[in-house]
Order: sequence, then C-alpha cells, then structure tokens
Amino acid sequence: MPKLIGFIGKGGTGKSTLTALFLKYVLEKNIKPILVIDADPNSCLPELLNLKADKTIGSIRQELLNKNNEISASFSKYDYCEYALNNAIIESKGFDLVAMGRTDGPGCYCYINNIIKTMIEKLKRNYKLIIVDCEAGLEHLSRRTLGDINISFIIADLSRKGILTGVKQVELMKELEIKTEENYLLINNVIEDKSIDNFENLIQQTKNEKLKYLGVIHHDENILKYELNQNSLLDLPDDSKSYHDLKNIITKIDLF
Ligand SMILES: Nc1ncnc2c1ncn2[C@@H]1O[C@H](COP(=O)(O)OP(=O)(O)OP(=O)(O)O)[C@@H](O)[C@H]1O
Ligand SMILES: [Mg+2]
Repeated sequence: MPKLIGFIGKGGTGKSTLTALFLKYVLEKNIKPILVIDADPNSCLPELLNLKADKTIGSIRQELLNKNNEISASFSKYDYCEYALNNAIIESKGFDLVAMGRTDGPGCYCYINNIIKTMIEKLKRNYKLIIVDCEAGLEHLSRRTLGDINISFIIADLSRKGILTGVKQVELMKELEIKTEENYLLINNVIEDKSIDNFENLIQQTKNEKLKYLGVIHHDENILKYELNQNSLLDLPDDSKSYHDLKNIITKIDLF
C-alpha cells in the first residue's frame, strides 16, 4: 500500500506552501510514482505549482448529478466516474495531481460519494507516495474519502493559539477515528529564532498529545516572490530559507 502523508492545520498556516516544498523534496529524492491530492475546496495548490486544475472531483460529482438521467445503461455511473476522474488527473513532471474541489452540497449523495471513495481507493494503489494538502476542516478525512494517514504534518504558526489549534487537530483526528502512525508538529513562517524560546513550555506539552515537534520553517521572502510572479515553488532555489529548513527537518524522520 502507498504511504499517505497529510499536511494539516488551521487556515493560512502554510499547508499548501509546505505541501509544495515537501513535493520538491521527494521529487529530488526520486521517489515515484507520486500522487498529490489537493483536498481543499478552495483549491490553491495547483497555482503554487504553476498548474491548472480545470476539472475537480467535485465538478465530476456535479456533472454526474446533472447527467443522472442521461447516462445510458451501457455506460454505468461508475464507468462515467472513472472516465471523468482520469480526465481530472493532471500529469506533471514526476507526479500526478488531482483536486477534490467542492464535493459537499445540498442533500445526501451517498451513492456517488461511495463511488468516489472506491475510485480513490483504486487510484491510490497506482502510487508509492500520496501527499495531501488538507483543508482546515478535515472534511475528506472525516468522510473517509481519502482513507487513513500514515504521517500527518501539523502546521502551526508561532502563537499560543496556533500551537493549541495544532493539538486540537490531533484530538479531532482521534475523535473522527482517523488513524495516523505519526503526527509531527512544524511551526512555519518564523521570523525571529529567539521568539521560539517563549513557546518552549507549550511545545513540550504537545508531546502529551503524541505530537512530535520537529522544528521551525523560517519566513522566506522567496515564497512570496514566487507566488506573486506565479513561479512554481518547485523551482525555489535549494538554499532558499524555507526549503533549506524543510530539508533539514525531514531528514530527522524515517519517511520510507
Ligand atoms: N515560510 C513562509 N515564508 C513566507 N511566507 C509564507 C511561508 N509559509 C507560508 N507563507 C505565506 O503565507 C500565506 C498562507 O500560506 P498557505 O496558502 O500555504 O497556507 P494554507 O494553510 O494552505 O492556507 P489555507 O488554509 O487558506 O489553505 C501564503 O501567502 C504564503 O505565501
Ligand atoms: Mg491551502
């Protein structure tokens, strides 16, 4: 089975940015094949990678609902879904990407959601590594569309609330019975090293929640520049602060 790695955290902490940097890292390590799932309905990840996701699983679901009466008996909903999903997968250099889009909506479409779940389960088997940029509400994880997570990176900003929200995310996963093997805390967008000292006690406490603190990723002007100029974060220079930090941190853990 592939390894599923999720980037989780409250809004705006840097989940999508760090998903992109992590992808850069695993591509350089020549790990393949890789599937990236943008699980945020407010999809931003493709743009950070300079890709366009015109079709999403959500739009496929909607198409399927609209075509409910049109799909002929010879072309089952499942076949249609599979065909549409294959169209939604973006193939890029060294990885594939699929965006979940908006899969919620009025009413209950358990039948279609179950098709999507089965399809994703099948799709996952084609890959060695699956990286998920999760949305803050953990909707897909709670609906179990994506299955369990092997490693979760909980992204927090350097604030009491930020770190405590990280702890809450782990509690929420437990409540939702989402199994993870490891939960790692990353504090992102840190400007001054000495400011981390004030949070040492709080960080220590997170260990009680089986949240292992890995370290900080510094604020990096390059990220903002690349975003502004619509350059892919995969092209960030290796010595760029944030990427340098991420690489150092990731080597501390046993990924494979
Ligand atoms: N280390 C960093 N240095 C500088 N800017 C950063 C860093 N990390 C993230 N940012 C910036 O912070 C903003 C939020 O980052 P990002 O979109 O990755 O967060 P997110 O958690 O995915 O947000 P959302 O919850 O909206 O999906 C972006 O403008 C991004 O460029
Ligand atoms: Mg995001």
